[in-house]
Amino acid sequence: MNLSLNTGAGNLVHIYVGSSVFASLHDFLEPFIHAKEKIFILVDENTSDFCLPVLLSQTGDLRNAEVMRTNAGEKNKSLETAGWIWNSLAERGATRHSLLINLGGGVITDLGGFVASIYKRGIPFVHIPTTLLAMTDASVGGKTGINLGKIKNQLGTFHNPEAIFIHTGFLETLDMETILDGLAEVLKMALVADKDLWDELSLLTFTGLTGIPFRDETWVKLVNRCISLKCGIVEKDFRDTGTREILNFGHTVGHAFESLSMQNGMNSMSHGRAVALGMICESQLSFMKTGLKASERDFIVRMILSVYRHYKLEENDLSFLTECMDQDKKQSVQGTRFPLLESPGKAVAGVICNSSEVLESIDFYRNLQP
Ligand code: GLY
Repeated sequence: MNLSLNTGAGNLVHIYVGSSVFASLHDFLEPFIHAKEKIFILVDENTSDFCLPVLLSQTGDLRNAEVMRTNAGEKNKSLETAGWIWNSLAERGATRHSLLINLGGGVITDLGGFVASIYKRGIPFVHIPTTLLAMTDASVGGKTGINLGKIKNQLGTFHNPEAIFIHTGFLETLDMETILDGLAEVLKMALVADKDLWDELSLLTFTGLTGIPFRDETWVKLVNRCISLKCGIVEKDFRDTGTREILNFGHTVGHAFESLSMQNGMNSMSHGRAVALGMICESQLSFMKTGLKASERDFIVRMILSVYRHYKLEENDLSFLTECMDQDKKQSVQGTRFPLLESPGKAVAGVICNSSEVLESIDFYRNLQP
């Protein structure tokens, strides 16, 4: 299946999903091989072990590609790692026409996209995302970035890859927590943009969905559907100045939950769980502010808690959560901007909520039975 993202001014990104991705990759690589351009593959220690062998065995064209291996994890989405990759590219003779292939999850696609968009003012790059989160969200839409200290995505560019190649078979290499990270973005996409998808996901239930083998056409279709929804949203607002904000549903409270669990140490919360629990609070805000019905909110809560464990909040966690949200970049004098739901499948951007409304939504969450 082929999709495309058109961000204007001739900027068209082809996105290949499904069984023939390696044939499409072969066709894409042909001019680079013919012109004897250098090709680099950025991997982390996981994709180096589990995905690179598949890629190399499927694409003989890459036998001379140079592999750059970083450590896995969010903390490596740093200026230090970016500097190491830039130096490594320079030492190995990368020119403006060399190609960088980013093989990995959201950390690798964000980091590799950033590095490529800056090196020699931009070299061509492609993404081969290997996690559900990167396939359905991070690799699509031209956002690149690294963290600055503890602040996520503080340095970044809007820069599209030349193409994206998605082999859903890579999902087989993941543990369940990593699948759940991606599933939260899939649920979010359905809630903000596609009522039918939300209804279908609700019917399937979690065990029904994850019981389907990752090579099955169901996953190709699901990934494909999320990507077309994302392309539709990004094409209207590539630089994220308005409607694209709906893609952050659940993330404002979610990031605060994530930071809280990190500071509480042991068993810090996964990104997917934090976003999913954030969507519970932001569904309550949607009930209070944008007309989401109580029955719709309750259904969302039930669906989320059937997949993600409730995280118990203590009274003294509330001030930490509000502090995190105050530092959020969506903060203004009147309060924090939230994308909220009018109904499942229909979201609205830029709703200002004041701190007592936000606290009320967190109270709603606290009072739910785990
Ligand atoms: N992941 C949110 C966005 O691409 O805007």
